[in-house]
Amino acid sequence: MIQPRVFSAIQSCRYAYRSFFSSAITSKYGHTLEILGDQYPTDEITNVTPAILSKIPLRVHTQVGHPLSTLRSIIESHYPDFSHLSSFSPLVTPFKNFDELSFPKDHPGRSVTDSYYINKNLMLRTHTSAHEVEVFSKGEDRWLLTADVYRRDEIDGSHYPVFHQMEGARLYSADASGMKEVEEDNERLSRHLETSNIVIEDIPHISPTNPVQQTHDPRHSELVAKNLKLSLNGLLLRLFGGSNSEEPLRVRWIEAYFPFTSPSFEVEVFFRGKWLEILGCGVVIQSTLDTSNVQGKIGWAFGLGLERIAMILYSIPDIRLFWSTDTRFLSQFKAGEITTFKPYSKFPSCFKDVSFWNPQDSAPLHDNDFCDLVRDVAGDLVEDVKMIDSFVHPKTNRSSSCYRINYRSMERSLSNEEVNGLQKNVVSRLTDVFRVEIR
Ligand code: PHE
Repeated sequence: MIQPRVFSAIQSCRYAYRSFFSSAITSKYGHTLEILGDQYPTDEITNVTPAILSKIPLRVHTQVGHPLSTLRSIIESHYPDFSHLSSFSPLVTPFKNFDELSFPKDHPGRSVTDSYYINKNLMLRTHTSAHEVEVFSKGEDRWLLTADVYRRDEIDGSHYPVFHQMEGARLYSADASGMKEVEEDNERLSRHLETSNIVIEDIPHISPTNPVQQTHDPRHSELVAKNLKLSLNGLLLRLFGGSNSEEPLRVRWIEAYFPFTSPSFEVEVFFRGKWLEILGCGVVIQSTLDTSNVQGKIGWAFGLGLERIAMILYSIPDIRLFWSTDTRFLSQFKAGEITTFKPYSKFPSCFKDVSFWNPQDSAPLHDNDFCDLVRDVAGDLVEDVKMIDSFVHPKTNRSSSCYRINYRSMERSLSNEEVNGLQKNVVSRLTDVFRVEIR
């Protein structure tokens, strides 16, 4: 999955988790949740929070002039003969999000600490690949799909539990005529890239751990993988090639693993001294096409994270800004144009620490549970959350955690009373719901 994940301690806190959400949800919603006008029953694994549900109707990727919408339409215009889809509901079954795409039963992405569940049978999609089978089944063989996706995550300037992905896919006939089409396309794309001012580091060959699929003719797979790379390099050139910085853009291809593509790759872009992962892709596995009732085809798919790319292109420093309704943010942008974000004055930060002893009879609180609790209390008034200390008392064996919360609004100065009130609320939820003992 594209965002870096922390998979440790996944099994740790089911008990606390349940009690937190059953109290959070029932107090606000009763035993059903209303989402986009429909009612859904909750159950013991429900873990969506009001803060998360409030994002579902916003659909910023389709708001004219919003940077994410402009980026979507630029990418769409790069693929003019593809179907452009952007109105799929984020509610999907775990089957569609995982099983249909051959995720193993024990994949950590399925856990309640990593994904948001409405109930056992319904979740918020964690990636746009969740719609691959649905779209391929309709007979589409070249398409882009843009959507909001949801992953439980830590809080900082580049992670937000709701973000946007764009899935792209292209299928060819797995026969001589299809391969001729790929070859012609590869030639056309290569010629275009020769004029590029991007430095692309590629991996020369596919390793045994990232194999050509058994049902594929290796020459077909190779041509299709090449087509995928050329197509995406062309897109990156389109997106980043116009930047007037003196340094050339550096892009690197690395081998990756996804349950639903093989071979698989990731693309990273060098930005502000760091390699940033911006997309995952690969040759679509045969079982996805079989499930979709597509016969005699071979093709590729990619999924890219729109926020990461938009942050680079627009120089947007904080991922929360994509959700801002402040006119100082929105009025800076015009539909179809990429312009550099002009920061307006930053309001002061207010740091608050909370230290506590974890309950003796269960594992320490999971970072994602802490972050969702804070986000549910403070919404976008929290800029980041860091665990600054943790230790186990040598004599009593009790574990202690200390988190530092940075409260800061993007839109106004927060008063001391307001921040103290938020912090008090965080502390009381911690003790009521997670049964920790404040130190
Ligand atoms: N869905 C993958 C992710 O979210 C990205 C991906 C899409 C990889 C399509 C391969 C093919 O990380």
